[in-house]
Amino acid sequence: MEIDVFTLFPEAFEWFSEQRHVSNALEAGARLGYVNYRDHTPLSGGQVDDTPFGGGAGMVLRVDVVEAALRARYGVDPIELVGRRRVLALTPGGRVLDDAFVDELAAEPAITLLCGRYEGFDERIIERFATDRLSIGRYVLAGGELAAMVVCDAILRKLPGALGHADSAVEESFSAALEGAPEYPHYTRPADHRGWRVPEVLLSGHHAKIREWRREQSRLRLEQDLGSPGGRGSGDGRG
Ligand code: ADE
Repeated sequence: MEIDVFTLFPEAFEWFSEQRHVSNALEAGARLGYVNYRDHTPLSGGQVDDTPFGGGAGMVLRVDVVEAALRARYGVDPIELVGRRRVLALTPGGRVLDDAFVDELAAEPAITLLCGRYEGFDERIIERFATDRLSIGRYVLAGGELAAMVVCDAILRKLPGALGHADSAVEESFSAALEGAPEYPHYTRPADHRGWRVPEVLLSGHHAKIREWRREQSRLRLEQDLGSPGGRGSGDGRG
């Protein structure tokens, strides 16, 4: 898996790149690279954005700047790139990320994430250079960097070797092993804290009963989720 993140703030990813599951995934063969739009701008003074035609607040990332950065990284006209690589523009109105979307992206050999800033992208960037528009939720962030970290985190932790324990990503929330339901609750020591006791079944050592209890808890959480405002029963998440 190869992920390239195009951003004005590659230094924002330093902490993220050092996280154990990320470094594990990289050691296991994944690649995570960063391209700073500003390093490739054809404009003077490091300019990357401009005021919107028609007026309005904020600044818009320029199409010629993004084109130059993509060309520098891949050595081709970026309109040819979309035929051979998933290029995702991070934008609040895009397809909302969920576990199925993460699986889809994790199965790609390579993806590119384009971070916007300020008011976002010149629309021609999305129309001509991107295969997808991706949102991490229906709210507006100041830029795509946090969204890119969310996407990278969700993908990289699914790759073989990223998590310490081989089974950790198998039976987790929304996985096929739990039939798409949220994960069951976890408890650890102490078994009793201020009278708040851990469910007896988990202390029983009876594995079949524990499995059954966990499936049931997972199903109950799914029912709650489907009934709650903003839960999965309230829309398909596509914008
Ligand atoms: N950029 C700004 N807000 C965003 C969001 N919610 N998802 C993805 N990219 C964004």
